[in-house]
Amino acid sequence: MSMNLVTLLYLVASICFIQALKGLSHPTTSRRGNFFGMLGMGIAILTTVGLIYKLGAELATAGIGYVIVGLLVGGSAGSIMAKRVEMTKMPELVAFMHSMIGLAAVFIAIAAVLEPQSMGIVLHISDPIPTGNRLELFLGAAIGAITFSGSVIAFGKLSGKYKFRLFQGAPVQFAGQHKLNLILGLATIALGLIFTFTGHYSAFTLMLALAFVMGVLIIIPIGGADMPVVVSMLNSYSGWAAAGIGFSLNNSMLIIAGSLVGSSGAILSYIMCKAMNRSFFNVILGGFGGAADAGPATGSSEQRPVKSGSADDATFLLSNADSVIIVPGYGLAVARAQHALKELTEKLVHNGVTVKYAIHPVAGRMPGHMNVLLAEAEVPYDQVFEMDDINAEFGQADVVLVLGANDVVNPSAKTDPKSPIAGMPILEAYKAKTIIVNKRSMASGYAGLDNELFYLDKTMMVFGDAKKVIEDMVKAVE
Ligand code: TAP
Repeated sequence: MSMNLVTLLYLVASICFIQALKGLSHPTTSRRGNFFGMLGMGIAILTTVGLIYKLGAELATAGIGYVIVGLLVGGSAGSIMAKRVEMTKMPELVAFMHSMIGLAAVFIAIAAVLEPQSMGIVLHISDPIPTGNRLELFLGAAIGAITFSGSVIAFGKLSGKYKFRLFQGAPVQFAGQHKLNLILGLATIALGLIFTFTGHYSAFTLMLALAFVMGVLIIIPIGGADMPVVVSMLNSYSGWAAAGIGFSLNNSMLIIAGSLVGSSGAILSYIMCKAMNRSFFNVILGGFGGAADAGPATGSSEQRPVKSGSADDATFLLSNADSVIIVPGYGLAVARAQHALKELTEKLVHNGVTVKYAIHPVAGRMPGHMNVLLAEAEVPYDQVFEMDDINAEFGQADVVLVLGANDVVNPSAKTDPKSPIAGMPILEAYKAKTIIVNKRSMASGYAGLDNELFYLDKTMMVFGDAKKVIEDMVKAVE
């Protein structure tokens, strides 16, 4: 395989990745986007295997066998995990994958520092690694280490399965935390620069150890409700780590793919910060300030009277409305009630009711979660509206139907400056003439907060699993 062919194939793969990003920006084109992503990755992997084979033959080293075993083991594990994972567990899987990218970057950097000649960085083992390459290795390794340990903590927080204190959704904070982070950050940079200019292995090792600790310290003070931004931020870090290593290995594919992941992750983090009214720089540097009390649902809530009704009562209100706005949330995804919901909507529309869906950017547990859920049920895209496009319509809506959503419609974000979600834009469901809320109990949402919306005079709670309740509503409409 000639180097010109390798460059050409890497270029084709890069164009596929750009097409993938373009396609994934809208549900209608997302399948095509996924196809381009897979095609690009397939071309990139096969080209790299061909390249290793060529170098292997030239250098008479036997590495190709390990690569093929790695591809088979990693590829099989990845396919099984992706097939088995439930939609609601996707953020954990994504956090796990980011941690693997970070760890891979660290391993490659260690291998390159110990045996630079085997990576083509120098000609002979006794040759010193050039200063520029040492800088790239320091950056790739440091960002990779932060990404790895930070993603492990994010994985634990998102899964909510582990008793370990650092894996709890509630923020872990202590006095002088920011100062400690600053000192560790400066020490990491100083050690990295010592390695860059002197080539001392001990400085590299110590720098790596500090970077692993920093990854943990950056993520532990972040509360549950702010985790979406953390996940996209770690996504961005993993891309930059890969790009850094790409420079060291002189691999243009890794540089391009890493930069695409790094910059698209940074743009997504910025969009999410805007959606949640958080400071982008606070996120990048760790510790959000305002979200001190945020944490995942505790299941507790104060006992205050609420109005409740049955699925039949809710159907009566819906059938007599002219306009209905549906707010889907995490609970709808848990109940897998999207198909029943589509059937209900079709019947209401058939009876002359105008139905629109309102999507909050962080509803559910991953960016675009609700869009994917509704697309799965083939809900027409013209019924689906983003928050900024529909918020002005809640005041005129006859009925708002909140299904398994909680934090994204919590008015305390607007009314209580001390609330952990203060300042986060919400779907203004509280403005509607009548509000129907379906959930199983009075338990709090992901941010662990009580929700004033449930206690309003115009609100009717319909308790029960979303799928069961919606199926009952479909029967009642009939
Ligand atoms: P949440 O605030 O998490 O509330 C979901 C509600 O669904 C819960 O109060 C729960 O109450 C109810 N529920 C659970 N299972 C149900 C079922 N089977 N049937 C009916 N209801 C059910 O959801 P949200 O409003 O979508 O807000 C998302 C939250 O997650 C935000 O705080 C956001 O910051 C955070 N988060 C988002 C992401 C992304 S990127 N979207 C990632 C991580 C975290 P019951 O237990 O009483 O039923």
